[in-house]
Amino acid sequence: MATMENVIVLVNRIQRACTVLGDHGGGDGAASLPTLWEALPSVAVVGGQSSGKSSVLESIVGRDFLPRGSGIVTRRPLVLQLHKTQDGAQEYAEFLHLPKRRFTDFSLVRKEIEDETDRLTGKTKQISPVPIHLSIYSPHVVNLTLIDLPGLTKVAIEGQPESIVQDIENMVCSYVDKPNCIILAISPANQDIATSDAIKLARDVDPTGERTFGVLTKLDLMDKGTNALDVLEGRAYRLQHPWVGIVNRSQADINRNVDMIIARRKEQEFFASSPDYSHLASRMGSEYLAKLLSQQLEAVIRARIPSITYLINKSIDELESEMDHLGRPIASDAGAQLYLILELCRAFDKIFKEHLDGGRPGGDR
Ligand code: GDP
Ligand code: NA
Ligand code: MG
Repeated sequence: MATMENVIVLVNRIQRACTVLGDHGGGDGAASLPTLWEALPSVAVVGGQSSGKSSVLESIVGRDFLPRGSGIVTRRPLVLQLHKTQDGAQEYAEFLHLPKRRFTDFSLVRKEIEDETDRLTGKTKQISPVPIHLSIYSPHVVNLTLIDLPGLTKVAIEGQPESIVQDIENMVCSYVDKPNCIILAISPANQDIATSDAIKLARDVDPTGERTFGVLTKLDLMDKGTNALDVLEGRAYRLQHPWVGIVNRSQADINRNVDMIIARRKEQEFFASSPDYSHLASRMGSEYLAKLLSQQLEAVIRARIPSITYLINKSIDELESEMDHLGRPIASDAGAQLYLILELCRAFDKIFKEHLDGGRPGGDR
């Protein structure tokens, strides 16, 4: 019987296959594919520069591998697919632009992201909208597609074109205005929530707040005698989903190479031992956030099953005529890729049918 996990794995694979096809410019005939890609859910981080976006993503993954720091560090979108593997399996990462290389040393993953960023932008403070695609295979992750994005800014700095403020906003919007994008709106607790760029942008693209998760970072950096209960308990700015408070590693922790596991334990201790937050401790922290997101992703996929099924069938029809047009056996890369997507779509369709036959529509648990 199909499980939701299978469905998410397939969603990931179709997303990946569609990306490869897009990059190689194959197949004008399969017009539904971009729409299909957009119909599949993902999670994107939005927020001001240095609000802690990359740090939050790292904690969700439970691995050190993203460039982080003050100033503009993330300068290209990073599309990160997490694939849960069997217990005990070796963890590794793979870039779409380096398909034959398995990274098991995650500091080299960070280096490759930096180099690949510089490859398009040079060692500048400029940005590029061309995404980097990275997959992580690990027994310790939940199946999710996460997107790390450059931070929103208010002014261009030395070495940046005047248009950068708008360019970044447009780039971020192009990811989060898709109705299937879950928005992780990151705001630092040591700034007034009323000035949050994340909340402002999330409200523009998701006015009802149904796909926005408010994340409050830097709780450890608040002024003594103040706390963030007004935000965390939903009084300052109400969202449909509960706010999640986070304590990431400080720059000093990063410089001292403080381990992720230790950082997560310290984060849990921070909440459990805080007179202000201990009553919320079970609903705070990056591990809880990861669980929450995975549940939300399942809910989105379940709700979308009818429309995704429709798009899949449409894609299958288009792909089949494309295949006929190309002729079999398939010679070109694009042909092989089309064939793969077609196979994936068929598998997807089959899982959905089993899903629907297996009891309540969209439910097998
Ligand atoms: P981004 O620009 O939004 O991706 O932010 P980064 O993840 O690169 O973080 C920017 C800086 O803030 C880094 O030096 C982090 O160590 C620091 N930082 C992020 N979150 C926290 C936090 O919760 N507490 C503390 N003390 N520092 C944080
Ligand atoms: Na930064
Ligand atoms: Mg970043």
